[in-house]
Amino acid sequence: MLQNPERYTITAALPYTNGPIHIGHLAGVYVPADIYSRYLRLQGRDVLFVCGSDEHGVAISMKAKKEGITPQEVIDKYDGIIRKSFSNFGIAFDNYSRTSLPIHHKTASEFFKKLYDNGDFIEEVTEQLYDAKANQFLADRFVTGTCPKCGNEEAYGDQCEKCGSTLNATDLINPKSTITGETPVLKATKHWFLPLDRYDAFLREWILEGHKNDWKPNVYGQVKSWIDGGLEPRAVTRDLDWGIDVPVEGAEGKKLYVWFDAPIGYISSTKEWAEREGKDWEPYWKNEKTKLVHFIGKDNIVFHCVIFPAMLKAEGSYILPDNVPANEFLNLEGNKLSTSKNWAVWLHEYLEEFPNQQDVLRYALTSNAPETKDNDFTWKDFQARNNNELVAIFGNFINRVVVLTNKYYNGMVPAPNEFSEVDEQTLAELQAYPEVISSSIERYRFREALGEMMNAARLGNKYLADEEPWKVIKDNPERVQSQMYVALQIAAALSSLCEPFLPFTASKLKRILNVDTLNIDWKVITESADLLPAGHQIGQAELLFSKIEDEEIQKQIDKLEATKTANLAENKKAEPQKELIQFDDFAKMDLRVGTILEAEKMPKANKLLVLKVDTGIDVRTIVSGIAESFKPEDIIGKKVTVLVNLAPRALRGVESQGMILMTNNAEGKLVFVNPDADGVSNGETIN
Ligand code: 2FM
Ligand code: ZN
Repeated sequence: MLQNPERYTITAALPYTNGPIHIGHLAGVYVPADIYSRYLRLQGRDVLFVCGSDEHGVAISMKAKKEGITPQEVIDKYDGIIRKSFSNFGIAFDNYSRTSLPIHHKTASEFFKKLYDNGDFIEEVTEQLYDAKANQFLADRFVTGTCPKCGNEEAYGDQCEKCGSTLNATDLINPKSTITGETPVLKATKHWFLPLDRYDAFLREWILEGHKNDWKPNVYGQVKSWIDGGLEPRAVTRDLDWGIDVPVEGAEGKKLYVWFDAPIGYISSTKEWAEREGKDWEPYWKNEKTKLVHFIGKDNIVFHCVIFPAMLKAEGSYILPDNVPANEFLNLEGNKLSTSKNWAVWLHEYLEEFPNQQDVLRYALTSNAPETKDNDFTWKDFQARNNNELVAIFGNFINRVVVLTNKYYNGMVPAPNEFSEVDEQTLAELQAYPEVISSSIERYRFREALGEMMNAARLGNKYLADEEPWKVIKDNPERVQSQMYVALQIAAALSSLCEPFLPFTASKLKRILNVDTLNIDWKVITESADLLPAGHQIGQAELLFSKIEDEEIQKQIDKLEATKTANLAENKKAEPQKELIQFDDFAKMDLRVGTILEAEKMPKANKLLVLKVDTGIDVRTIVSGIAESFKPEDIIGKKVTVLVNLAPRALRGVESQGMILMTNNAEGKLVFVNPDADGVSNGETIN
């Protein structure tokens, strides 16, 4: 770990522009990266935070094919949407670039050329998967098949999302083209390979020995198993028509592999920023005193910890990442977030439903961030975090301070009298928070850091609740001056302490406290805790947060339920038709309309109900496996379809004399095949 860096280069994974972004992206990558960058800027450090759109690769071509538009139209559309979401959620990049820009094509080409000229690649003709029908080589997402490592049948040609393995398309068992569904054939083609095996010793020393203690265990573990599994040469070019041309002779029609060009996008983004700002980009990538940190999701670990570092090492003039604090995945209401299944909370949609509540989502996602394991986002948790924490603690404290200051002193910070022991202790505790929060952030523990920031708000809330200035004011107004002074210092400190996590709240609070021109940095808080001088004029009270009602949450839950139903209906494949039968076969079945008269649970059987059914012929007992779908009391009186001439059979000692016809609805629940027509009597035959 680099001590006392002179500057920081912070990168956040470049999102593919093949769809909008959702809460999983925000929680896993962009909010933590933004907290870290904002925190460092607040400490007055030299920070460069870059990102951009990842606009090459098969994901884009596939989306274009699916929508019947050009790849350029796809990237223009989603680059616009993604940019807007980032800016709406306060993700404060110093630069957000695009890999389709000329500056990136040039940077990536030159990078490749340098490695090529150095002899860092192996040039080889190998057999690759080819879709004869589509007249195209298949790689990456153009091919799916069974992962040779874990057996997942939906692995892609470059990666298995189930076990995280990075694959070559030819490794897949039973490969299938995602363009035509055809089984590909093998066809010879020339490509350039980065011989990762040559970097084995370097990677072992740099990561396995050098970063054993400061990289997160999930990251370290994945890298170790990859290296221990044996590094092999990896193709860095592709036979595709969308991407950056391979800049060497004999490579006509070939493009750079998207994972070769995308991480170089961090460098191009830096160059673009430097040109605009009139700065020098090189120290941010080539100076040993620069701390480079990559924020990514766990599916990007090998690319950032093995392949890109090998590229940087081969090039020779670049620094390597100091840390890659990858997060695990966020799930939504118990299921994996999925763009194709629309199982997501899309950022642009969230803002339509909860306008101006970006910080609530930032807060809920950070409180529950998947830092060490996969975590679940639920709307109920989101509501509880807002109502019980932001509103009840932080918001309540600030509101009390501002209302009382306006009420007692016309909004002027009072001069304190002698401090009590509690006052001294409270201020001392407040002074400790910047360091406590910093220490968590510096170790990439953002949940913990946010918890400590809220503890500072709790400190204020508790102080007022214990001191009760609204009672003391009657008999001892001098004491209240000190109390309100202390409370106001906590409020002022919070306006700065919350900034990395809740930037919109921080600016609102600064406006309310009228402290925009005061320099409340974390060092000042640590040193004095005298942040708002007596006589300073604050503004009027405004609510920092507002309660989220049950109906708003229910609406979101219902929306997800509707998605689930739609997905089930879409995915439900009708079972193939059974063998033909003759009319006589059908006529053998005696189907009648009946009514359920009684229903009770079969003892010690979870699935079975014992029913008494009026079949029109008689009243008979039928045992039915529907107990998990219906309560006995809810089905009494229900008209049903009964197969009455099914040979009786004993179930758990009870003789069942027929069968009730059931089917499944769109949600997969059992429902009765219900002869619901009026005036149909029991015993009526169905034919
Ligand atoms: O997984 C992804 O969404 C990739 N587009 C991330 C690229 S990160 C980088 F290397 F640019
Ligand atoms: Zn796998």
